[in-house]
Amino acid sequence: MDNDTSPEHPSPVRLDAWSEEDADLLRALNAPASMEYLGGPETEEQLVKRHRRYVDLSAADAGAGRMFRIVLLPEEAVVGSIGYWTQTWEGEPVYETGWSVLPGFQGRGLATSATRAVVEEARAAGLHRHLHAFPSADNAASNAVCRKAGFELLGERDFEYPPGRPMRCNDWRFDLRAPA
Ligand SMILES: CC(C)(COP(=O)(O)OP(=O)(O)OC[C@H]1O[C@@H](n2cnc3c(N)ncnc32)[C@H](O)[C@@H]1OP(=O)(O)O)[C@@H](O)C(=O)NCCC(=O)NCCS
Repeated sequence: MDNDTSPEHPSPVRLDAWSEEDADLLRALNAPASMEYLGGPETEEQLVKRHRRYVDLSAADAGAGRMFRIVLLPEEAVVGSIGYWTQTWEGEPVYETGWSVLPGFQGRGLATSATRAVVEEARAAGLHRHLHAFPSADNAASNAVCRKAGFELLGERDFEYPPGRPMRCNDWRFDLRAPA
């Protein structure tokens, strides 16, 4: 696998638990270009609620889920968001993940590195066997991230995101209990 991390090739990113100070990051990631495949920008009220959910999730037991800011090393620049949370999918409890990288930092492999790191976080949390990602079928960059991070493509599905807005997405799955 390319972009592997090892003592000679440490990850270029660190994941820090979402905290009160990350509200402005959420606002920056709400720009139209970043929200193209996610139903368009949210209102300020929706952002405030989302920020509160992220803070609360990240302060609770890691088994339920966790949101993170993505920190670029060594300069410690905050470049995006990622996380995992519990979801019911086809009748089973699973983890779901999703990510966003600020436009100025895209195309450098950072989403792929952050996704590999979040796989390890979800594996360590340990409550569910499978971690899914549901990028829009048209979101070439996000589908590439899933492929490069080692997810298995199960196929296209009908999905609603945000609730009430139908979309066609790919169902990608990572088996957190598979031998490394
Ligand atoms: C999806 C996103 C996070 C990717 O971030 P990134 O840091 O640029 O991703 P990476 O650099 O790790 O790139 C991963 C792969 O996507 C490819 N890619 C990037 N942009 C692409 C595009 N517009 N079309 C096709 N492939 C693209 C890259 O080439 C790379 O593959 P490669 O190394 O084989 O060339 C970023 O585009 C983003 O934040 N988009 C808006 C939010 C979003 O849609 N989130 C997805 C929710 S599921």
